[in-house]
Amino acid sequence: MDTNNATAMTQTQPISKVDTEFLPEKDILTDGVLREDYEKLRITYELQRDIGCEIEVDMVLNRILERTFEFLNYDRGIILLVNKKGKLKARAYKNITDGKKNALSTTLIRHVIDKKEGVISSDILTDGRFNKADSIIFSGIRSTIVAPILQGNEVLGVIVIESSKKVGAFAEKDLLLIMNIASHTAQFIKNSLLHEELRMSFDSAIRTLSATVDAKHTLTAGHSERVAKLSVRIAKRMGLNKNRLEALRYAALLHDIGKIGISDSILLKNGPFNDSEREEMKSHPTKTKEILDKFYFPKLLRNIPTISALHHERIDGTGYPNGLAGADIPLEAKILSVADVFDALTSLRDYPKHDDAGKDLECETISVAQAVKMLEKEAGSHFDAAVVAALKECLTNPKPKDKSIDSVC
Ligand SMILES: [Fe+2]
Ligand SMILES: [Fe+2]
Repeated sequence: MDTNNATAMTQTQPISKVDTEFLPEKDILTDGVLREDYEKLRITYELQRDIGCEIEVDMVLNRILERTFEFLNYDRGIILLVNKKGKLKARAYKNITDGKKNALSTTLIRHVIDKKEGVISSDILTDGRFNKADSIIFSGIRSTIVAPILQGNEVLGVIVIESSKKVGAFAEKDLLLIMNIASHTAQFIKNSLLHEELRMSFDSAIRTLSATVDAKHTLTAGHSERVAKLSVRIAKRMGLNKNRLEALRYAALLHDIGKIGISDSILLKNGPFNDSEREEMKSHPTKTKEILDKFYFPKLLRNIPTISALHHERIDGTGYPNGLAGADIPLEAKILSVADVFDALTSLRDYPKHDDAGKDLECETISVAQAVKMLEKEAGSHFDAAVVAALKECLTNPKPKDKSIDSVC
């Protein structure tokens, strides 16, 4: 067990070895202590194992407070993490008593951060490290453990455990366990920050590619971003889970990337297409698939090339490139199709004056209500009726933005 940075702190009573260490079984004379120690070690082991399986920081922090409560029986547990501005912010909180958010001891937390060591105080009232004006004293706290979440020399946060019930509520070996849990938490947080950096880098690469296609002409700039946002809104209405939302979002951002394989003389043509030009234009979803098939996508996002490539399919089977119908078209592609056409109808597109299939479009944009009406007219033939209904719901009855998906939008 990692005992680094854990220091013995003020005690008002003589300390017996059984309070400070996990002794060998033969040296423990009391059955109760043996059982208690076993439970503490068991829960700590399970917690460490669970930390390794989780992917969300807040989930891990809350789990730590839940599980440590099983053997520490504290009144209040708080985990604070250092945010991007370098400030400590509470990320997980468990209050067993009256639910009041009492003040934390800044003195003690500052000490833990400066010294990079965990502390235990058995009786705050007699602890020389607190002055009489310290807010923690007025909060009625009697015993506390504060442990730094340390990665090397860097403090990522602190774990605070408090009891107002009694003097000596925690033993020094409890501090050792909390320090051990804090050390696992630090590793987990570092890994998750690294994961977040990789995700942001992947995200920015996709967005840059997407913007490159849209930037071919000023009037299509932002098309894929708007289609992605609207697709996600519709999909949320339809109850798709987070993984499917993410795949759909990327598929929408990349849906027209095949257009980079279409010659500019056709792509930017200001006028009707002839047959061969129309056929070349209609090849862009296939080109999208060919390009995206070369990408390495993580397992949960492997269906992106398929979703992107099917955004011009129609549910009656008259779309392209595969002429798929009904249930053979994935729901994500049906959503993307509706969002794509809605954006084409409601955005200013006076040049080129045709859609991807070469059909002439009006120079003027049409209103949202008119666009919805047009989509509704084709619901059941071109578009999936449930998707059109979900789009209408989004537009007429908007919900507050969902932060979880906005973070990747
Ligand atoms: Fe397209
Ligand atoms: Fe498009």
